[in-house]
Amino acid sequence: KGCKLVGCGSAVPQLQISNDDLAKIVDTNDEWISARTGIRNRRILTGNESLTGLAVEAAQKALQMAEVEPDDVDLILLCTSTPEDLFGGAPQIQKALGCKGNPLAFDITAACSGFVLGLVSASCYIRGGGFKNVLVIGADSLSRYVDWTDRGTCILFGDAAGAVLVQACDSEEDGLFGFDLHSDGNGNRHLNAGIQENETDHALGTNGSAIGFPPNRSSFSCIKMNGTEVFRFAVSIVPQTIEASLAKAGLGHSDIDWLLLHQANQRIIDGVATRLEVPKDRVISNLANYGNTSAASIPLALDEAVRSGKVKQGQTIAAAGFGAGLTWGSAILRW
Ligand code: ACO
Repeated sequence: KGCKLVGCGSAVPQLQISNDDLAKIVDTNDEWISARTGIRNRRILTGNESLTGLAVEAAQKALQMAEVEPDDVDLILLCTSTPEDLFGGAPQIQKALGCKGNPLAFDITAACSGFVLGLVSASCYIRGGGFKNVLVIGADSLSRYVDWTDRGTCILFGDAAGAVLVQACDSEEDGLFGFDLHSDGNGNRHLNAGIQENETDHALGTNGSAIGFPPNRSSFSCIKMNGTEVFRFAVSIVPQTIEASLAKAGLGHSDIDWLLLHQANQRIIDGVATRLEVPKDRVISNLANYGNTSAASIPLALDEAVRSGKVKQGQTIAAAGFGAGLTWGSAILRW
């Protein structure tokens, strides 16, 4: 059995924040940010918008392109590390889309690798579980967890959502040929936003001494990152994972029509392209406008490239995600 990508869509918040805007709140400047990252602008969610709303808009556009009705969707995978409900955001998207028939909807949490994991999961549900129309949505609002006084991280991130519809098809039409997925918890120290206990709620003990019950109410800390370590990790691991996926697909470097990496840093994208000998005009990049949008970055860039006519039907895409966990992975796709 095969599975193919039949629609894509994306949505971004209205508010655009430039490098010059950031220079007003932290000690930085446009020249440094542009040269070190390639980022010039990012979109940030504001009070009257929601991540769920962006995810729904992206999903609706993907369904329209695929000419599939919400009622025909039988699985929704929301790839996010920043859901708007602790228990997961996917069922709210199912409700907003008006999918009748109670399709399964749940979240996948794997930071900037989330979308690649979602795509591969969709293919497994289709091939092994009889699912027919799977919506894979990457949506994140890391701006809600950024320390806006830390110039090392606050310049990097933006908010967005992107979606694709993955559909069951005959094996001759198969559009996902090879994948490779990994994680390494040892690297968590380089990039995390761990749980923290708030001091305001005091735990009580029956005899007056603290016994740690009831527990303090918890929340997540701001994003903490060792940028240099994450950079090194990305430029070494991403070519390896793409090589592994290509080998499983029985393809070589020259078969890649488009290299589509998680949009974290232009220097990472350029470094990986050089290692894989993919020419610059075969590399998809839109991070100058949106920054690092975590799980949304790959479907957002794919959607722009498809709608602008850059990526054409039948072309082969090497996609790779990498980030917190640490997690990383790649998939070879045909659009
Ligand atoms: N403006 C001006 N100067 C700055 C800024 C800034 N925004 N940030 C840091 N600097 C300074 C530093 O203080 C340092 O100064 P010093 O030399 O006087 O000590 C100097 O610039 C160099 O800092 P580095 O951190 O070494 O700069 P680097 O070239 O490594 O770039 C960056 C930093 C952009 C963060 C880079 O390391 C990077 O992109 N890393 C990868 C991050 C990433 O891809 N994350 C993806 C995963 S995200 C996820 O999964 C959630």
